[in-house]
Amino acid sequence: MADDDRVLIFDTTLRDGEQAPGCSMNLDEKLLLARQLARLGVDVIEAGFPVASQGDFEAVHRVASEVRGAAICGLARTSDDDVDRAWEALKPAERPRIHTFIATSPIHMEHKLRMGPAQVLDEVTRAVTRARGYCDDVEFSAEDATRSEWEFLVQVFTRAIEAGARTLNVPDTVGYTTPSEYAELISFLRERLPGSDSVRFSVHCHDDLGLSVANSLAAIRGGARQVECTVNGIGERAGNTAMEEVVMALRTRSEYFGGCDTGVDSKEIWPTSRLLSQVIGVGVQPNKAIVGANAFAHEAGIHQHGMLNNSLTYEIMTPESVGRGATELVLGKHSGRHAFADRLEELGVDPEKIDFERAFRRFKDLADAKKTVYNEDIEALVADQLLRVEEHYKIENISITCGTFVTATATVELDIDGEKHKTAKLGDGPVDAVFKAIAELTGTSARLLRYQVNSITSGMDAQGEVNVTLEADGRRSIGHGADTDIVVASARAYVHGLNKLLQHSRSPSSGDLRGI
Ligand code: KIV
Ligand code: ZN
Repeated sequence: MADDDRVLIFDTTLRDGEQAPGCSMNLDEKLLLARQLARLGVDVIEAGFPVASQGDFEAVHRVASEVRGAAICGLARTSDDDVDRAWEALKPAERPRIHTFIATSPIHMEHKLRMGPAQVLDEVTRAVTRARGYCDDVEFSAEDATRSEWEFLVQVFTRAIEAGARTLNVPDTVGYTTPSEYAELISFLRERLPGSDSVRFSVHCHDDLGLSVANSLAAIRGGARQVECTVNGIGERAGNTAMEEVVMALRTRSEYFGGCDTGVDSKEIWPTSRLLSQVIGVGVQPNKAIVGANAFAHEAGIHQHGMLNNSLTYEIMTPESVGRGATELVLGKHSGRHAFADRLEELGVDPEKIDFERAFRRFKDLADAKKTVYNEDIEALVADQLLRVEEHYKIENISITCGTFVTATATVELDIDGEKHKTAKLGDGPVDAVFKAIAELTGTSARLLRYQVNSITSGMDAQGEVNVTLEADGRRSIGHGADTDIVVASARAYVHGLNKLLQHSRSPSSGDLRGI
């Protein structure tokens, strides 16, 4: 099996990625992301850790019930409770996968599990056997494999194969290994394990030394045929292997990797990356490979000259190939509803599931304000509608006075559950004044933890995109807003965040279990 040239993409954005501080998602957000991951064409979606919390259980269950096209996976330790709970959550999936794991390194066995090697081996057999009693597709992971004794790994994985695991994952849990060492480990296991031809080797890397993508790619050369990764590389500490980097490295250098490729539709990479950033309110650094703002920008004169003559001089892949660049919208202010609805569908947004008239009005306003409307503009325009947030607060009107000679003043009118309310506030700048006015009208006690503004596209008329993180009563929410006027975008983001705080109790973080 390991000799074929198809590398499976196992996406763990919703499980390992979501564990990172500031990256948690509620149920609706996970569902939205899972649908986009299916469009992207990942093979496996690890939707959560069902035993960890009721929120995780429900998220895995909903994704398993509603998302088609990818295998849906749930994580479980080796205890019966964990495996049973994972199965309960996964049952409705078209293709369920139970992923069970136990640590195998001396340090984890002694200090975390307080188990000896023999006991760990028995746990492997028990958990994999129990999981196989529920479904055919069972993955086993030897946590902290890269700090485990190689001979012990042979024993562990032999037990997993004997009990019926189909995928063997060799995680670099603490981001400790190096490319050549990791490739050697995978080759060693393939050679030494009886029955290794009947299983798929998987790799799962963390980026503590900045080597996760390099390690994953090296492991493919060593015979691994599944990579576990996250969108934008989100994950605990320094993050996990970035999905987009692995996918594009394989596509761009397929020959070097023996013809290996994934089933990912690379044009969906950019929309997926943007959707995740909008949902969690965490963007990527501008120089991030593939999805950073500057990843395809050529600034140096000598580069620009080369690019004009022949783009291959400095470009190893096109922005269009990852869904960027070819985004100019042929729609303009004269375009009608049909054209706008078609474009929404192309972007994966069902016009019937949003307030279409409102989105269309905003599109028209935008087309009036901006020369060119890009796909990213449209995504931003409907982003706050995708998550079905009930609008207790709606912005009716905003008026701002600011500048170098005046104290910033904002007059804000809100519709609060059908009634109009208005106030004016002074502030330390226009955004501060608007936020103070909204806070007074809503009576919120939410603290503003983070405020981030980006330009969605280039150009003087670009829309500003604002993300805010709010916290009230131990709950957090991410608010998102976009507009050609960044003060209005800020107000939209703040109001969106407040509506979310009212509606959602964020899925409670799962306490101790998240720290695995
Ligand atoms: O990093 C790790 O070892 C994990 C396992 C649960 C696969 O996330
Ligand atoms: Zn991990």
